[in-house]
Amino acid sequence: METARNKTLAESKIVVVGQGYVGLPLAVRAVEVGYSVTGYDIDQGRISRLQNGDSFIEDVPQDVLKAAFESGRFSVSDQLSAVEGFDIAVITVPTPLRDGAPDLSYIESSGSDLARFIRPGATVILESTTYPGTTEELLVPILEAGSGLKSGVDFHVGYSPERIDPGNLVYRFENTPKVVSGTTPEALVIVEDFYNHLVTQAVPVPTTREAELTKLLENTFRHVNIALMNEMAMFAAELDIDIWAAIEAANTKPFGFMKFTPGPGVGGHCLPIDPSYLSWQVKQSLGHSFRFVELANDINEHMPDHVVSRIGRILNDAERSIKGSKLLLLGLAYKPNSGDSRETPVRPIADQLQELGAHVSCADSWVDPAHFPADLERVEVTAETLAGADLVIMLTNHRDFDLEMIETHAKAIFDTRNTMFGPKVTRL
Ligand SMILES: NC(=O)c1ccc[n+]([C@@H]2O[C@H](COP(=O)([O-])OP(=O)(O)OC[C@H]3O[C@@H](n4cnc5c(N)ncnc54)[C@H](O)[C@@H]3O)[C@@H](O)[C@H]2O)c1
Repeated sequence: METARNKTLAESKIVVVGQGYVGLPLAVRAVEVGYSVTGYDIDQGRISRLQNGDSFIEDVPQDVLKAAFESGRFSVSDQLSAVEGFDIAVITVPTPLRDGAPDLSYIESSGSDLARFIRPGATVILESTTYPGTTEELLVPILEAGSGLKSGVDFHVGYSPERIDPGNLVYRFENTPKVVSGTTPEALVIVEDFYNHLVTQAVPVPTTREAELTKLLENTFRHVNIALMNEMAMFAAELDIDIWAAIEAANTKPFGFMKFTPGPGVGGHCLPIDPSYLSWQVKQSLGHSFRFVELANDINEHMPDHVVSRIGRILNDAERSIKGSKLLLLGLAYKPNSGDSRETPVRPIADQLQELGAHVSCADSWVDPAHFPADLERVEVTAETLAGADLVIMLTNHRDFDLEMIETHAKAIFDTRNTMFGPKVTRL
């Protein structure tokens, strides 16, 4: 049976299903190392932007996308027929929560689409974040039913969680170790070999379940530790203790401590969602609640309320009310140096402030105008917009915010990210 391992890289056809934050960097990297790659996505808008050489993902600059097309080994399509003849297909479709429960419909539909094109020797790898058991219990039966072939005998299946951190300039796709797994030892060899070409280190784990759990463990770890810092920040403020100084001091301990910082709340596609995949499964399978996740969700979801209450107090000290105040929010994206505003905590903060009667404007040059909420006035950061606000609130510390200029022109600042330190600044 011929697999990708018996071919040269250029002869191997790689299909990446989903051309989003995870799929596009993966596809482009596979082209860079020598594979022939087809990026497939059902979103016609995204595909036509890519075909016009327009990358909408910050981690894939335009010149990198251009080089991928110029290699002659990269194409993108919204036509399913383009996946035909794949040696390895990687699924990178969304896995949202719907009414608190995992929505695996995108995995199901992309699995049944791919199944029609599976040939003997082909390999399908799932990368979407999901709860343990999805690859073996959900994906494999769909692939077998649609292809009429047997997994582990005629074709191979694996799981490799994505660790991409959009906007991270140090740890990029290629220098971040990647956990790999297969449903059989042979599948693992193919999956490991594939990722060894793409990243500095592939890390094999015994089964797909451990690989699925690894991703949820990593994100739950971050979620819980951020919640711990958020809760400490709330009571430290009341006790008039500088939480940031305590965190920096603790971080000098060379062992047994890892730095996490508080903030206005968590957002994005991972932290507000992934831990709930795990708690949902624990509840479904074992009937227990995953108390750490529930507590962390509760604390992190309430951070926007805390931010609004602190804003109220700062204005109160200046003998103003939230009602009628002009408030300038710096940042809309959920994390610095990214245009991703999915699940951003800035949204509930802006909503609450508007409900309380504030005039709210927001500056964020990273977020695509098409994704900027219509009800939020978008402004540039200028001496006038800064000076015109009763309070400037730093929510997402993008690197292009000119902190000196902000401190010079703002009347008062509330900084939720520990970026400014002058006399006008109150920190979270
Ligand atoms: N964004 C991140 O930082 C990140 C990091 C690690 C893991 N993940 C996980 O990776 C997965 C993908 O996330 P993302 O951020 O890339 O999502 P995304 O929304 O940016 O991209 C997913 C793409 O899949 C496409 N798609 C949906 N159904 C399809 C189908 N049937 N066939 C072809 N294309 C289809 C969508 O149109 C979209 O373009 C999720 O499970 C997510 O949790 C994301």
